[in-house]
Amino acid sequence: MAHLLEPLTIRSVTLRNRICVSPMCMYSSEDGHATDWHFVHLGSRAIGGAALILAEATAVESRGRISPQDAGLWTDSQIAPLVKITQFISQCGGVPGIQLAHAGRKASTYRPWERGNSPAVPLDQGGWQPVAPSVVPFDKDYSIPCELTVDEIRGIQQKFLEATERSLKAGFKWLELHAAHGYLCHSFQSPISNKRTDQYGVSFENRIRFTVETAKSMRELWPKDLPMSTRLSCTDWYEGGWTLDESVELAKKLKEIGIDLIDCSSGAGTPLAKMKIGASYQVPFADAIKHRAKIMTGAVGMITEPMQADAIIRNEQADVVFLARELLRNPYWPVHAARSLHQADKLRLPDPYQYAAYPKG
Ligand SMILES: Cc1cc2nc3c(=O)[nH]c(=O)nc-3n(C[C@H](O)[C@H](O)[C@H](O)COP(=O)(O)O)c2cc1C
Repeated sequence: MAHLLEPLTIRSVTLRNRICVSPMCMYSSEDGHATDWHFVHLGSRAIGGAALILAEATAVESRGRISPQDAGLWTDSQIAPLVKITQFISQCGGVPGIQLAHAGRKASTYRPWERGNSPAVPLDQGGWQPVAPSVVPFDKDYSIPCELTVDEIRGIQQKFLEATERSLKAGFKWLELHAAHGYLCHSFQSPISNKRTDQYGVSFENRIRFTVETAKSMRELWPKDLPMSTRLSCTDWYEGGWTLDESVELAKKLKEIGIDLIDCSSGAGTPLAKMKIGASYQVPFADAIKHRAKIMTGAVGMITEPMQADAIIRNEQADVVFLARELLRNPYWPVHAARSLHQADKLRLPDPYQYAAYPKG
């Protein structure tokens, strides 16, 4: 029976345990370039024993940033600062991963801590007009997006490919497509934000076309021996929105094109969502997709306790767990988890820190 500290090999990559750093925007990049902040933030979690250190949503074009301070990989000069980070993570025994993203209609907002009353950054203060499947803003205070033409859609898909190539050059060993949280892919999938009547709208097949086409071409470009995951919002938590059943069907298609794991999140496609948030609240989505689509899954959301995380793996509800805020609170959570589960001898830390894990005393 698999457990939290058990390694997992996917393609040629071995995760030293099942604990993954969930991607977290730091809103601390300089014109899309990673800084010392990212080196310390991601490096600390690699020292702390997490297996997969998944870097934040990284914009494939500057229009695809959530905020002006977002990470990006739309130009070659953004590769070098990431190389230093991926090398360090690998040296610590972690797997460096990256989440490629396009914010779509949720782009051009202030960083969360600078938002005040209105999230949208005006054009005269460095903002830009977001792009989306349809002219449907996320909320009343958000910028009104312009509708993408089919040619422009192809152009953005090309940007995803260029960023995929740069991710490889930067030394990442795991690629994730961000298709959750109301950003561009998810906004195509959901009838809340997609009002198109062409080949990208109305039917399920059409609404998932952007995500599937993008994932497929990325997967074809990404080396066969390296894993690729996709983060989905498994439900919009809203009547008439994207559903879990649709996520299961999409996961089956993603499996067919070679996606290895679905990272199962939810929501943020509409501010009207009626989310039921509590401990492990998204685990049932990871469980359903794992068993119904027969693909590996990651569970995320309010996973904070070692026994809780271990049970998710042991009960085969997911193959890995992603932790976000708990790993912000404590980059050494894997060490404490291993000790409290009496599995400290199974935790692999960088040599200078191995004493922290074992022996207990
Ligand atoms: C500061 C912060 C930044 C985040 N940025 C991203 C991101 O870049 N990509 C993403 O898919 N999710 C992002 N999320 C969501 C987390 O990855 C995670 O799914 C969510 O916080 C729930 O997990 P938790 O309860 O362990 O925090 C972010 C969350 C936080 C707290």
